[in-house]
Amino acid sequence: MKILKNSFVVVSTLVIALSSSAFAAGDVARGQEIAAGVCAGCHNPDGNSIIPINPSLAGQHAEYIIKQLMDFKAKEGEKPNRNSPVMASMVAPLSQQDMEDVAAFYAAQTPEPAGNISSDEDLLEMGRIMYHGGNIENGVPACASCHGPTGTGIPPHYPALAAQHAEYTYTQLDLFNKAERGNDNGVMQKVLTRMSGAEKRAVAEYIQSMDVQ
Ligand code: HEC
Ligand code: HEC
Repeated sequence: MKILKNSFVVVSTLVIALSSSAFAAGDVARGQEIAAGVCAGCHNPDGNSIIPINPSLAGQHAEYIIKQLMDFKAKEGEKPNRNSPVMASMVAPLSQQDMEDVAAFYAAQTPEPAGNISSDEDLLEMGRIMYHGGNIENGVPACASCHGPTGTGIPPHYPALAAQHAEYTYTQLDLFNKAERGNDNGVMQKVLTRMSGAEKRAVAEYIQSMDVQ
């Protein structure tokens, strides 16, 4: 709620902070060892996942990755809630330092454009309008206001989305909507309550079609 209210102000100041982002840097080489040993099978060695249900991590902000890993680690029933049996078992053995290192590794990888882009032009256009303009009638804010016009996100709070697998994105939107993912302070849940299923599908396909920067 707090993030939602302030986001439009915060966005512009964070963009300036971005260039000089001085977040505690993890050890990329150590992170690569962890990623190669445990994570690569599902997220691909360079973090550009080729399996649509597994998110791409390449180029994602380190702060966001660390937060997600900590949220997966939090015990069930504890806030914040991001429950994934798969990821919970992956993060269980990781120390805070391990998480920072592996996040630094993925953040340093180059994101690749997605394959398998929808050929449904009308659907992509509907998604494009939602992403950049929202839906004024229903009070849905533009995704671009928090995730950036090119989908690069705004660290530390707003993840990059560009070229993410549509299937993963749609699943997350659905989870937020049903409050089964609740680690967003209610921000995404509020965004989604007024979106139709078709709009969620369209925006997920549009996001997959976005160029990476
Ligand atoms: C067996 C497959 C599998 C392995 C191995 C795996 N992951 Fe995942 N990962 C997933 C899936 C599936 C999700 C989506 C979980 C969800 O939200 O339901 C995910 C989600 C994530 C996310 C959240 C991404 C986002 O955009 O919010 C991060 C970060 C992540 N994984 C990092 C890792 C790291 C680091 C490792 C290795 C220590 C790892 N994963 C190993 C399958 C895997
Ligand atoms: C007011 C700010 C705000 C707006 C507007 C917003 N988001 Fe988000 N979004 C967030 C925040 C904050 C998170 C990260 C929550 C967390 O820490 O897990 C997020 C997370 C997400 C995620 C999860 C990413 C991942 O890798 O798991 C997706 C997908 C997403 N947003 C899509 C959208 C779409 C589509 C729209 C437009 C319909 C939108 N967002 C509008 C703030 C916003």
